[in-house]
Amino acid sequence: MAAITLDNLGKVYAQGSRAVGDVNLDIADGEFIVLVGPSGCGKSTLLRMIAGLESITDGQVRIGGRVVNDVEPADRDIAMVFQNYALYPHMSVRQNLAYGLKNRRTPRAEIDRRVAEAAEILQIGPFLDRKPRALSGGQRQRVAMGRAIVREPAAFLFDEPLSNLDAKLRGTMRLEIKALQTRLGTTSVYVTHDQLEAMTLADRLVVLNGGRVEQIGTPLDVYRRPASTFVAGFIGSPAMNLVPAAALPFADAPAGAVVGIRPEDLRLDARGPVAMTLRAVEELGATRLVHGHTGGQPITAVLPVDAPLGDRLQLAVAEGAVHLFDATSGKRIN
Ligand SMILES: Nc1ncnc2c1ncn2[C@@H]1O[C@H](COP(=O)(O)OP(=O)(O)O)[C@@H](O)[C@H]1O
Ligand SMILES: [Mg+2]
Repeated sequence: MAAITLDNLGKVYAQGSRAVGDVNLDIADGEFIVLVGPSGCGKSTLLRMIAGLESITDGQVRIGGRVVNDVEPADRDIAMVFQNYALYPHMSVRQNLAYGLKNRRTPRAEIDRRVAEAAEILQIGPFLDRKPRALSGGQRQRVAMGRAIVREPAAFLFDEPLSNLDAKLRGTMRLEIKALQTRLGTTSVYVTHDQLEAMTLADRLVVLNGGRVEQIGTPLDVYRRPASTFVAGFIGSPAMNLVPAAALPFADAPAGAVVGIRPEDLRLDARGPVAMTLRAVEELGATRLVHGHTGGQPITAVLPVDAPLGDRLQLAVAEGAVHLFDATSGKRIN
């Protein structure tokens, strides 16, 4: 196991523009870090630089205190899990699990011990003699994780490992990955574009935007105090309402500021300061999403299913739930 440090890490692709810039991050031994952001923000590039699958343009990657910029991927003591599983189709599950260890000339008895242990942890024992094509997507993803576990690496690197699974299985596998990482205590860097996955898995998350770090923090810190309008709009579902201060005069915001209010922080209140013109209602079963306008700006509230609705609603904002951002820089100002 190992700490990982990124110092001013940057990447410019050969004939491309800058994909990653000025990334500084200290990952503690055993920590679960999630890199999260929209498609194209540089998550995979960053992960692949840690793995050694992509050359580094600027800065340094250190794993366990050792600078690995010029170290081959196979010698970095990391194991990577990909979205497409990358299993060998002609090999059985057992052979897939053992392959990397055989290549390293691990003694036979040790290979057998590690394969049996991984199979037990991931509950894939019954499939050890099947080929990958005879497995479901979730089972294949477990085998891919098993292949990482048997290596007993200093760190796991995950690149959107659950993106090919349906929503229900994604939820189950999310819990399994979290439990597995807690049990093994292996330093992990996990890439996803899914804010829910990021919130639920991370010890700390790193929000990326255009190859730059927008914010680093625990999921709750980032949710409670997003550092910018970008983070505010990306973390949390449904997304935070971001409204020019002029449309919400009660918010005590400087002219030109942007006011952020989470949909779940609004509630019906006849004396509330927010006047909403109703446009559409989406029933979610346990709650309803109520969409409308205030001061000409779109706004959404999460309300109880039994809340009485009309063409016009008055809403109150929960105590301390107003976020203020600079309209030009997008940075938090309260
Ligand atoms: N091999 C490559 N050559 C040139 N540009 C690339 C290459 N791989 C990725 N990029 C560009 O780098 C940026 C970041 O890509 P990527 O790291 O794959 O983002 P993400 O994983 O967050 O979707 C994108 O603009 C992408 O088009
Ligand atoms: Mg990617």
